[in-house]
Amino acid sequence: VEAPILAGLKVVITAGPTREAIDPVRYISNHSSGKMGYALAAAAQQLGAEVCLLSGPVNLSTPVGVKKIDTITAQAMHQAALAKAEDCDIFIACAAVADYRVAEIAEHKIKKTDDCDEMQLRLVKNPDVVASVAALPNKPFTVGFAAETQDLNHYAKQKMARKNLDMIAANDVSKPEQGFNSEQNALKVFWPDGEQQLDLADKSALAKQLLALIAKQYAAQ
Ligand code: PMT
Repeated sequence: VEAPILAGLKVVITAGPTREAIDPVRYISNHSSGKMGYALAAAAQQLGAEVCLLSGPVNLSTPVGVKKIDTITAQAMHQAALAKAEDCDIFIACAAVADYRVAEIAEHKIKKTDDCDEMQLRLVKNPDVVASVAALPNKPFTVGFAAETQDLNHYAKQKMARKNLDMIAANDVSKPEQGFNSEQNALKVFWPDGEQQLDLADKSALAKQLLALIAKQYAAQ
């Protein structure tokens, strides 16, 4: 009997959104449900990997046999990722991490005022989780995602190069039947000397297909 394709490998997967507080009652976030990342975690575990899931706030149950670490903010996910990435073989960044956070979180609930119809929030850049992992001296095989609404191939390849990734899975998030918070997705996967289209399918089926590509490129490196 052949060993499962990820047998003996440590895989870290980020999933879900991050939340960036504005004040004690409000936050900035996005539409990620965590479904794609959790499907990857479940599939990787079934394929023999030891899986650690770094999860933003989602309403999903943790896949059987998977270790999960909960984080809320991008900064917390960044810290958790750096702590875990040192000791893993494959790192997959499926989380929708907020690129910016509020510069100064208000200590008390911000009040609506009668005299002003506008308000401004100053945002500062968050650390890039997957780029930081890919910059480690003993970097794991690092896979990113690219969520795009236009020029998918161009932006995905650009992100793979800029973030020093070994592979990137791009999805078009402008269509309602795929991407954020849907049961299905479609991916265009790129690595430095190849590409593969994975057609619209349930996220669990797609996760297995993506992990097969990852296992192949990991073994070839
Ligand atoms: O969660 P679901 O509802 O199932 O939806 C799945 C998904 C659409 C969220 C998922 O398939 C997806 O595309 N995830 C990546 C979302 C994203 O933030 O993409 P991006 O193109 O903005 O970021 C590029 C890459 O950098 C991603 O791997 C992201 O995790 C990573 N990143 C981005 C910013 C940051 N500060 N740190 C990061 O690690």
